Amino acid sequence: VSAYAFELKLGDKLNEGKTKQIFALPDEPGHVLVQSKDQITAGNAARKDQMEGKAAISNKTTSCVFTLLQQAGIKTAFVRQHSDTAFVADHCEMIPIEWVCRRIATGSFLKRNPGVKEGYRFSPVKMEMFFKDDANNDPQWSEEQLLAASFDLAGLHIGRCEVDIMNRSTVAIFEVLEKAWATQNCTLVDMKIEFGVNVTTKEIVLADVIDNDSWRLWPAGDRSQQKDKQVYRDLKEVTPEAMQMVKRNFEWVAERVTLLLESQVSGRVVVLMGSTSDMAHSEKIRKACSSHGIPCFLRVTSAHKGPDETLRIKAEYEGDDVPTVFVAVAGRSNGLGPVLSGNTAYPVVNCPPITPDWGAQDVWSSLRMPSGLGCTTVLSPDAAAQFCAQIFGLKDHLIWAKLRASMLNTWISLKQADQKLQACSL
Ligand SMILES: Nc1ncnc2c1ncn2[C@@H]1O[C@H](COP(=O)(O)OP(=O)(O)OP(=O)(O)O)[C@@H](O)[C@H]1O
Ligand SMILES: *[C@@H]1O[C@H](CO)[C@@H](O)[C@H](O)[C@H]1NC(C)=O
Ligand SMILES: *[C@@H]1O[C@H](CO)[C@@H](O)[C@H](O)[C@H]1NC(C)=O
Ligand SMILES: *[C@@H]1O[C@H](CO)[C@@H](O)[C@H](O)[C@H]1NC(C)=O
Ligand SMILES: *[C@@H]1O[C@H](CO)[C@@H](O)[C@H](O)[C@H]1NC(C)=O
Ligand SMILES: *[C@@H]1O[C@H](CO)[C@@H](O)[C@H](O)[C@H]1NC(C)=O
Ligand SMILES: [Mg+2]
Repeated sequence: VSAYAFELKLGDKLNEGKTKQIFALPDEPGHVLVQSKDQITAGNAARKDQMEGKAAISNKTTSCVFTLLQQAGIKTAFVRQHSDTAFVADHCEMIPIEWVCRRIATGSFLKRNPGVKEGYRFSPVKMEMFFKDDANNDPQWSEEQLLAASFDLAGLHIGRCEVDIMNRSTVAIFEVLEKAWATQNCTLVDMKIEFGVNVTTKEIVLADVIDNDSWRLWPAGDRSQQKDKQVYRDLKEVTPEAMQMVKRNFEWVAERVTLLLESQVSGRVVVLMGSTSDMAHSEKIRKACSSHGIPCFLRVTSAHKGPDETLRIKAEYEGDDVPTVFVAVAGRSNGLGPVLSGNTAYPVVNCPPITPDWGAQDVWSSLRMPSGLGCTTVLSPDAAAQFCAQIFGLKDHLIWAKLRASMLNTWISLKQADQKLQACSL
């Protein structure tokens, strides 16, 4: 048990595998301590080297990756880092399935699918699952086999709905990590993950760990430079030099994994409103932008009554190098959006505060444009902010991750609502 363990009161050991021990936490019901086992047993220096590198990367990777996914809005069991080798997680009953997601064909896929060339690109990604059964070498399972197994974990029956949720979640998690690694010029080739059932909420959540053993990474898409445990598997002979190389690869990943949490782009939204009577509508846009992680500034200007000011304000935001999307909020006749759009190369979104009396007529001032203008129009403040997020998400993987997770969570909610309805009507 780690030197830090005294800080936390440990309860019963709930589980122990090859690499981890799971302890109950009497002072935190519903949480467990996931402790990496003390691996430094062999005496030789090369092996010790490997273990030190391994502990560092495993620790850093799980905490960075789970933080990235959680900040995006994907449900994970990770709660907080506790020490160099342990973290606190929600107590789960684990679903004994390894979900594998592949973008590029390599490894065992090639053996099971003879004829497919290494490097074949799956679009959409390829999903596979394996039953965790050491004695039988983790056999591949079909969805039908998983349904037939009829698992019951923490009071949750693993049926059609639960299987679909895990399948969909795996794809979303892969895509979020793929985009994140792309910022480091790394191709995420494939990935394997496990889900658990939160014993308190009975929700399916990403659990266990994501570490060096969970994926293949090819820097610049180049297999010969791979930075994962394959390097170790491929070693002909475990020489000190070779171990140094494995360690350098671990360090390379450990260094970059923290960069996955950093935003690549600093963008902003500037809302121009025709008058302060548009304030409530504009504030809604600002609030929605901030939930997407995008700074948003509000200005008042009328293209009808003060066009010189409108263009001066526009020039302020063109004068620095910050990528900007303008949102025009103007009631009645929207002159603001079209005038901006005709005078800037930045994107302009009209978000007119439509009123019931003349709305059907007023909206045409945002829709029918002179030639040469490319502004777009959305009516709800949330939709305007979401459109801005989609623009910045093209370059910013953190903004993109939130959009992707939100799509996943909406899909899950609909699925669960339908399941509940079916259960009631039976
Ligand atoms: N948040 C969690 N709550 C409860 N159990 C967990 C949690 N995270 C991981 N576990 C479980 O802890 C056990 C020990 O993990 P470890 O990875 O060492 O096992 P292993 O030897 O690799 O066996 P396995 O083949 O099950 O992964 C595993 O059964 C794992 O599923
Ligand atoms: C799991 O349950 C805990 C309570 O033990 C709760 O606080 C937490 O939000 C749940 N986590 C997820 C991801 O649902
Ligand atoms: C493990 O992670 C924590 C938090 O990210 C960090 O402070 C610590 O240095 C890491 N330990 C190792 C061995 O890298
Ligand atoms: C996951 O879902 C896809 C799309 O519905 C399906 O084709 C695939 O067979 C599923 N994969 C697994 C491993 O269940
Ligand atoms: C990624 O590759 C491009 C083109 O080769 C290069 O310009 C860029 O600096 C690289 N970025 C990182 C983070 O390595
Ligand atoms: C990480 O890589 C090492 C060395 O290649 C491997 O032995 C280990 O199983 C991997 N996983 C973890 C959890 O460290
Ligand atoms: Mg394991």
